Amino acid sequence: MSQFDNTPILPGAALPGTNTGMTGSQTAVADSGLQGSMTGSDKTIVYKSEVMRQLMKMIDRVSPSTATVLVLGESGTGKELIAKAIHERSNRRNKPFVAINCGALRETLLESELFGHEKGSFTGAYTRKIGLAEAANGGTLFLDEIGELSPGIQSKLLRFIQEGEIFRVGGKDPIKVDIRLISATNRELDAEVGRGNFREDLYYRINTITVQSPPLRRRKEDIPLLVEYFLARGQNRILNRGRAMSEDAMKIVMRYDWPGNIRELQNVCERLQILADGHTIMPGDLPEHILNPEQKVTTDDYDATTTLYELEKRYILKALNYFDGNKTQAANALGITIKTLYNKLHEYGEFEKYAVHTKPKA
Ligand SMILES: Nc1ncnc2c1ncn2[C@@H]1O[C@H](COP(=O)(O)OP(=O)(O)OP(=O)(O)O)[C@@H](O)[C@H]1O
Ligand SMILES: [Mg+2]
Repeated sequence: MSQFDNTPILPGAALPGTNTGMTGSQTAVADSGLQGSMTGSDKTIVYKSEVMRQLMKMIDRVSPSTATVLVLGESGTGKELIAKAIHERSNRRNKPFVAINCGALRETLLESELFGHEKGSFTGAYTRKIGLAEAANGGTLFLDEIGELSPGIQSKLLRFIQEGEIFRVGGKDPIKVDIRLISATNRELDAEVGRGNFREDLYYRINTITVQSPPLRRRKEDIPLLVEYFLARGQNRILNRGRAMSEDAMKIVMRYDWPGNIRELQNVCERLQILADGHTIMPGDLPEHILNPEQKVTTDDYDATTTLYELEKRYILKALNYFDGNKTQAANALGITIKTLYNKLHEYGEFEKYAVHTKPKA
């Protein structure tokens, strides 16, 4: 297989300049001998933690089937990488893997991206366009941020999953399309179903199997390997700076909670390759917010600079982080109702940030 991305770019399949989430080109990385690394045709999943080992076992088991998979996890935890790994390990691996970000486009545009349109179906539809679902025929369709789908598209998607056929916008004849569907979201999709924002019948159709992508703070033992991996690659390698990390710097990096998860770690590593003073990254090279993260909550010492409001806010956010963003568990542990927790989050302006999904641990 080509060293480069095998995503087909069909004529009109993606609008230039729109972020449809069509996978960009990605270079293959030869298995670097890293412990527990899994190499697909274009992406390596680096890990060592038990929780990731379990996840990879799950991926191995799920991949050969045609079951729909819902990947849940915070932003930057590798949900798309997991979707690709499932594709690469299925017998569809030689067929397209097509990704679309459902949150990036408004409804009408998304519909024609996804299902295509016939010539003349609306103003500006000068030619027939093949949609991404059709482009993925025989392969895997990855719907990222599926929690953002509007009700109209939800019902069209449900029909597609049930009947295995699509209608192009303005098209009269159904077109048979065979895809394996993988979806991802960082929302509490079951709660969205409860609120009436996401169709229950669609929810059950898209998650025959649910896979949790754990936040980096729950698998800190992966950090050294990830740092080594990120420092060993990337264009900034040629600068020959920031090639390795000193033990002291690593200790600090391990202490940090990485709210932006692996994407944040990757960005920091890229910056360090440019900004570090020497070959080895020292604590002084690290960004300030990693060197001095927000102070730990200590409830027994009185601190004249902290108000009760601030203390409560920090404590509540810590509880949410502790429970991986699960608001029900956090509210229970804090001894407040879920409604109070929601109100507090709104008050702090943190509601959006914590609209992440993690299911209670079994
Ligand atoms: N275990 C891993 N090993 C190596 N690279 C990883 C790993 N997990 C994630 N990455 C890298 O981190 C970045 C973020 O991963 P990805 O885009 O899959 O996350 P995501 O959960 O889809 O994030 P978002 O919610 O922001 O879309 C990517 O560049 C990906 O290649
Ligand atoms: Mg993603």
